[in-house]
This record gives sequence, structure tokens and C-alpha cells, in this order.
Amino acid sequence: MKKIVIANWKMNADTAFSLDYAQKLKTLLLPFAHDSNLIFCPPFPYITLLKQNFNSFSSIGGQNCHHKSSGAFTGEVSARMLQDLGCTHVILGHSERRQYNHETNEIVRLKAESALSEGLIPIICVGENLTDREAGNAKSIVLEQLQDSLPTNRASYMIAYEPLWAIGTGVVASLGEIAEMHASIHAYLMDVFGAPSPILYGGSVTEKNADEIMKIDHVDGVLVGGASLKPDIFAQIIGAA
Ligand code: PGA
Repeated sequence: MKKIVIANWKMNADTAFSLDYAQKLKTLLLPFAHDSNLIFCPPFPYITLLKQNFNSFSSIGGQNCHHKSSGAFTGEVSARMLQDLGCTHVILGHSERRQYNHETNEIVRLKAESALSEGLIPIICVGENLTDREAGNAKSIVLEQLQDSLPTNRASYMIAYEPLWAIGTGVVASLGEIAEMHASIHAYLMDVFGAPSPILYGGSVTEKNADEIMKIDHVDGVLVGGASLKPDIFAQIIGAA
């Protein structure tokens, strides 16, 4: 695998699903070897199960973390805990968290800093909504999110560009729209940090479009939601990478 492929299971799966999935994917990926460019992000309760059953072929990440390492924050999970469970990555600032949990750019940046201090690689999500896109503001919104969500020191993280109107809708951004936004994000990173970071695309990625999306300049991989829940489909996306 040359490109990065991340499975975001969101609030899906259970024990039986995870065990069955591991079995099926191992068969489909044979001969498999651990690939650090393949990362599964299950719900918190299944991290250990995936660590035990997916470790031979993939890395494991969380879908969120709190920005403090411990304390009186009922219901929260810290980056330190994810690291302790063997995670190497954590998705931060996903649009569903920005929307339903009111996460701001500032909170996302604090979370990213906490993740980095625990040795995790943050996967920082950015993306515009349909109103912004139609008003011609997509680029300025995304650059503002980058400016305010990224840790100020140059660090090891990934960016996931996920236009909100393409997430879970079956509407994928056009190759031109993806190319244009990824070029802008790349230029921003070079300008501010003087070095690139991996930039992934997410939003209705399937086995049918993954190959052409990953051939676009500055697309270093894909963040996959719905299609990552089907081992036979996901194996084809991994194959394209
Ligand atoms: P989707 O989700 O592939 O189901 O559109 C992507 C994501 O939200 O990360």
C-alpha cells in the first residue's frame, strides 16, 4: 500500500461484527502483513478487540479524544487512554463532532496538541458545508479551519478534507473539486510550515471511485465511512491504494 486508507466505523459494529469482519478481511487480504498505512478507527469499546484481532494487518485509532489527559470529565476518553490501549492515531474535528458536539476549531487544536503530546498522530478533519460551497466560500472556510485547528508547531499529523455535503450522501466531490482543494491545502501547509503533511479525502468513497480519487495530485489516501463496514468492498479500496 502506497496510499493511506482509514476506516471510520463511526457508531457502528459490535463484538460479533468485529470478529467476523477480521476473519473475512484476513482472507481477502491474504497474504497480508501489517501495514501502517491501513488504520481502523472503531468505537471506543471495541479498540482492544480490534487491537487483538486486526493487529497483524492494521494500525488502530480512536474517533475522538478529550483535550485533557485525565480528570473529572464524565464520559470522556483521553489521548493518554487511547495510547495506553495501543492506538497510534486519532480522528479529530470530524464534521459530525463539530455539528452534534459543537466542537470548535479551538477545541480541535487543543485535542490535537494533547494527542501529539501522547505520541498519537491526529487526523484533523476539515470541510465546508453546501451553503459555503454554493456561495463560493469553500476554500476560505477550509483554510480558516486549518489556521485555527492545526497545532502551531510543525508536527506529525494528517489532514482529512471531507466536504460535509459528500459525507454519507453518496454524492462524491468531483475530481476537479478534490484536486483544487487538495492543492490549496498543500500550498497552505508549505507556506506556513514549509513541509507537507498527508492530505486524505473523505466523503462517499467507495470501491468504484477510490482508484481515481487516489490518483489525484496531493491526495495521499482516503478516509472511508460507510464503505469501510463491508469487508469485501473495503478490501477493494485497500487494493486500489
Ligand atoms: P462516508 O463517511 O464514507 O460514509 O461518506 C466518511 C466520513 O465521515 O469519514
